[in-house]
Amino acid sequence: MASLGKDIDAAKAILETGELVGIPTETVYGLAGNALNPDAVAKIFAVKNRPSFDPLILHTSSMERVSDFTLGIPKALSILAEKFWPGPLTLLLPKKDSVPDLVTSGLETVAVRVPNHPLTQELLANLDFPLAAPSANPFGYISPTKASHVNDQLGDKISYILDGGDCEVGLESTIVGMEGNQVTVYRLGGLDIRKIESLVGKVQVMAHSSSNPKSPGMLKSHYAPSKPFVLGDLSQLIKIHQQKGTSFAVLSFSDKFPEVSDDHQIQLSPAKDLSEAAKNLFAAMRTLDNMDVSVILSEYLPEEGLGRAVNDRLRRASVNETV
Ligand code: TXA
Ligand code: MG
Repeated sequence: MASLGKDIDAAKAILETGELVGIPTETVYGLAGNALNPDAVAKIFAVKNRPSFDPLILHTSSMERVSDFTLGIPKALSILAEKFWPGPLTLLLPKKDSVPDLVTSGLETVAVRVPNHPLTQELLANLDFPLAAPSANPFGYISPTKASHVNDQLGDKISYILDGGDCEVGLESTIVGMEGNQVTVYRLGGLDIRKIESLVGKVQVMAHSSSNPKSPGMLKSHYAPSKPFVLGDLSQLIKIHQQKGTSFAVLSFSDKFPEVSDDHQIQLSPAKDLSEAAKNLFAAMRTLDNMDVSVILSEYLPEEGLGRAVNDRLRRASVNETV
């Protein structure tokens, strides 16, 4: 297993040798390596079992440093960067040649983000290279929001995880770029698009496609638990599964179901707070996925604010499942 700690110098030393480290961010934990070192980047793909057509996000400590890797930033996107960095926002920008093609899977744009977590901020400020970091989970599985999640799944493949506690946002960053003159969201995430629209006007949200995705976070089935994950009206689903005699667990927004035992249900936010629900989502999905039941029953959140991003993850977790 990997060691867990808050030793920034240790993390720095490992990264400088071209090895990988688990890092905390406010969204989810990342699997980080030197973005300018193709060997380190290749290790990221290998450890995650990630297809090479799925490009990585480059993490840096400040907006000033972004110009080291990019050819400029369109006005609308610079307004967003000024306002929301550091934070759960990733921008797609035209890349400089210094960024290895492996990072961008050969695309002309590079995804860039300034994360907002004190340990990772300090680490990035102390490094003289940016970090490429996808979410620290095997490709296609639920993203990690605690250091222990990273250790459970990748602990035998990396030596150190910087332990920054539970992720405050709990959903991956919102990915934004331009299609011509149109500000476009490629992945709904931890930054509410209403906040984006209040600054740059109406954005377009790209529907996801599972063939040749521009952003494989757009793959229809992704972020998925290993158990069948069924979405619908929970009271109905519970009745059906009780009648069938299937063992199940329940993931609800706020309701508690008296007909289900307490240890077989999780409420994402009893107070109906969408940010709290987002923060708890992935850990709850993991807990239920590790339970001795054959199916997970769940429901959509209100389709507003962060609820849209949570619903996007629920939908992908449930692809191909029927009642
Ligand atoms: O919150 C986050 O974004 C986390 C933390 C660790 O920063 N990272 C994360 O990375 O979620 P990852 O690799 O799991 O998801 C990155 C997404 C992928 O769907 C990838 O396809 C997309 O970003 N992406 C990266 N570069 C891109 C590009 N140039 N054009 C389009 N999509 C891109
Ligand atoms: Mg991911």
